[in-house]
Amino acid sequence: MADALELASGYSLVSLDQVDSTNEEAKRRAAAGASAGLVIRARRQTAGKGRRGRPWVSPEGNLYLSILLRPNCSPAHASEVSFVAIVALGDALADLLPEGVAPAYKWPNDLLLGGKKAGGILLESLSDGDLTDWLIVGVGVNLVSHPDDTAYPATSLTAAGGRPIGAVALASRFVGEFDRWYENWRRHGFGPVREAWLERAAGVGGQVTVATEDGQLTGVFRDLRDDGALEILDDKGTGHVITAGDVFLPGES
Ligand code: BTN
Repeated sequence: MADALELASGYSLVSLDQVDSTNEEAKRRAAAGASAGLVIRARRQTAGKGRRGRPWVSPEGNLYLSILLRPNCSPAHASEVSFVAIVALGDALADLLPEGVAPAYKWPNDLLLGGKKAGGILLESLSDGDLTDWLIVGVGVNLVSHPDDTAYPATSLTAAGGRPIGAVALASRFVGEFDRWYENWRRHGFGPVREAWLERAAGVGGQVTVATEDGQLTGVFRDLRDDGALEILDDKGTGHVITAGDVFLPGES
């Protein structure tokens, strides 16, 4: 049966039963000349990808979606869209959650429910010199199931006590919220997105441990910089700027 998915204007849907990865499918179509606004949604992925080369286990029932964009801006500016996406995802989920549970963001773009990871964003891009040719925003949300063996504890919307919603309905909500935030970002830049992210950010002002390719660093989460990097102050008072890594909140590393 075809998915009855209504999307915000300017977006068009390709809905698949199964694919290796919706990001990979979006990439193939980008290379073949597909226009911005293409949304790929699949019921299942056989080779779903997470950040930093990790697999994203993708059984039926959860949300797997990728949006193709052609933002015509520098790669550094385009990377801010991962924050656009996570803020949009938080807004799309907020009113489905029980009292006392609010969406929280773990740097850079994990979605936490009740302190556990329920979703994430994988941004991939191709740039031609100083300009981004295409940008793919991949979104995965655990709606009805979650893996039990992840480094960071995982959960799902259902396990967190949220109101059940199908992947199709959440996709439609998410694309609507994404469109609103993406237009805001195009008009006003990163400032409003950064503020919205900080309002729901986990761990700001407290101790965090960050695992990077160079090792682990513990310190106070000072701020989210204007370019999306994380500012940490270690216990010797030295400031560090982190551009890639995994954050662990107290008691989780
Ligand atoms: C993360 O590690 O937190 C990012 C997870 C992103 C998973 C989504 S599912 C849809 C899209 N296709 C993929 O292969 N990955 C992203």
